[in-house]
Amino acid sequence: MIYNKAVHFLGIKLRKTAKLGYLTSIKNLSTMARPKVYVTRAMNREVMEILGKECDVTTWPGSDPVPSTELLKNIEEVDGLFCMLTDKIGKDVLDKAKNLKVISTMSAGYDHLDIEEIKKRGIKIGYTPETLTDATAELTVGLLLATCRRLMEANAAAREGKWLTWSPFWMCGNSLKNATVGFFGFGRIGQEIARRLIPFKTKQILYTTRSENAEAKEIGALRVDFDSLLQNSDFLIVCCSFNESTREKFDLSAFKKMKNTSVFINTARGGVVKQDDLVLALKNKLIWGAGLDVTTPEPLPVEHELFKLENCVILPHIGSAATDCRLEMASLTARNILTALKGENMPSELVLS
Ligand code: DGY
Repeated sequence: MIYNKAVHFLGIKLRKTAKLGYLTSIKNLSTMARPKVYVTRAMNREVMEILGKECDVTTWPGSDPVPSTELLKNIEEVDGLFCMLTDKIGKDVLDKAKNLKVISTMSAGYDHLDIEEIKKRGIKIGYTPETLTDATAELTVGLLLATCRRLMEANAAAREGKWLTWSPFWMCGNSLKNATVGFFGFGRIGQEIARRLIPFKTKQILYTTRSENAEAKEIGALRVDFDSLLQNSDFLIVCCSFNESTREKFDLSAFKKMKNTSVFINTARGGVVKQDDLVLALKNKLIWGAGLDVTTPEPLPVEHELFKLENCVILPHIGSAATDCRLEMASLTARNILTALKGENMPSELVLS
């Protein structure tokens, strides 16, 4: 809360000081031309200090995403862009960005960046995959438990006076004990989720990836094909990256192959799921329930069908929203920009093949 207020305050203050010419007076302290950086959201003090020491920083002061007109206007002169997953960086933006040398996104995912267009222009990309593994794994476990043990529904019932007595089979859900947990995608986040779930006495961990995973052996996870993953998982957790090969991978035909007692969890990207098919699967009890931290679109309109379903828990994309994690992501995003602009190795560069 205090942090949010500070961020908000700092954002407003930055706009005012920029108007008053404060940034210009800092610029005059240096004889060298300072690179220009645009930040697409109000940021915390540490980030502004890291960047402000060596760059002229302009920021969109809002807590809402920068409007595209504003981004297009501000991108023209800048050398570095500090952005987030809500900012679509496509050809239109890149065509305007004549001086851009580095795009640093405060996210692990980079599906909001037009990689081909960026590659053509030789612009470097920074991202933050390692910083958010633990926070996202924690949240996924929380979402899974909230879904399978019906925490939201039970809490709502208690508040609404529906808790009449202790009842033997009221609000019963699915247990992780003796369960087969399947992972679609088994990178850092998937592995950390598995490590956290095994102490719940799961029976087996399965995963589907394009290639064999070295860490999976140590975890005791078994690689299977997609159909076996669908057919055998009591819990199916999506933690893959989002690209053309994973787009709408979970459609009606996939849900039909899953157990009708299974729980589907997605903390990756909404686009991996054909959402209308998920609604059908939940309504027709092809699967038992779903927990989603990501949807299409985001935010999901409050009148959306998914919000009407008791067997669906929806969170507003908060996988990495632990304060320490977000501060680290922000700081790394700033350091990625600075190092790239100095021609040094970036602490976390997305290396394009
Ligand atoms: C990311 O960084 O890609 C995550 O989705 C944010 O939580």
